[in-house]
Amino acid sequence: MLESAMSPSKLSMRAFAADVVRGLAQTPKELPCKYFYDKRGSLLFDEICKTADYYLTRAETSLLEIHRGALVKAIGAGATLVEFGSGSSHKTRLILDRATELARYVPIDISARHLEETAQALRARYPRLDVRPLALDYAAPLPSLDGVLSAGRRRVVFFPGSSIGNFEPAGARRLLAEMAKVAGAEGLVIVGVDVPKDAPVIERAYNDREGVTARFNRNLLERINRELAGDFDVKRFVHRAEWQAEPCRVEMQLVSEVAQRVTVGGRAFEFGAGEAIVTEHCYKWSPDRFAALAERAALRSEEVLFDERGLVSMHILRPRARAGS
Ligand code: TRP
Repeated sequence: MLESAMSPSKLSMRAFAADVVRGLAQTPKELPCKYFYDKRGSLLFDEICKTADYYLTRAETSLLEIHRGALVKAIGAGATLVEFGSGSSHKTRLILDRATELARYVPIDISARHLEETAQALRARYPRLDVRPLALDYAAPLPSLDGVLSAGRRRVVFFPGSSIGNFEPAGARRLLAEMAKVAGAEGLVIVGVDVPKDAPVIERAYNDREGVTARFNRNLLERINRELAGDFDVKRFVHRAEWQAEPCRVEMQLVSEVAQRVTVGGRAFEFGAGEAIVTEHCYKWSPDRFAALAERAALRSEEVLFDERGLVSMHILRPRARAGS
């Protein structure tokens, strides 16, 4: 069939299938984390944020409560707020409640249905705000956002939740550089970043005692079974979250309990007993190391905010004027 004759959902299904096959064929086996977020995955993610062990959401919420006056001021009047990976926009409401002079909100998320429902709810709650959702994968090269970013309006990019930590350092730098471009010389980039801390605290956060993160991780295999006619025996895969001090990250894995064969889209993949599929990395960045990374993306860290316990940070970054511009 011709590409042009295929619907976008067929195309993205084909990309999903190709990514899964490629990831399972390599050593170590790997699956891209962006596929966590189907409808069920997005709901499970919201549940993770409410667990007692996952400190990030609560800490960042308290950070936003403490500093929202300063943040609203930094965003300024008449600006467009562009949020990457907005999910349910729960935390952003703390800002939207106060930023009454904000002109437009552009939530960007990969989960189109979830995004549409969120946009409806936001329009009902903030009738004066121009809400323009964009369903896209911000980890892929960004399309032009000109249609939603009207010229002349100040643009502030917001990227909370420590999702920057889900990128490898080179990818994080590239994404920050994209954000700097979206913000432009007059704008700002505001990024939530989890900081390194004791291993047990971090490992608990990614392996909560209620088992929600385990369900979230395994949902990826269920999604492959549902959408790509896979035959993963999901209960034979165990969720594991391991703190790796050296690259300063958590590695999430799904570990095959036994030797087994799995087929996806007609292709067979062999698993050894104890063999892991790497599903995600969550890097933690100290303020200094993150500022150095941002510097390499032409962003200057102007200010770093913390919650009262210093669990998480938020960097306010300003695009550096380029030579000659
Ligand atoms: N980016 C957040 C973090 O690294 C949220 C997140 C992404 C997450 N994937 C996750 C949390 C999987 C728990 C499990 O913490």
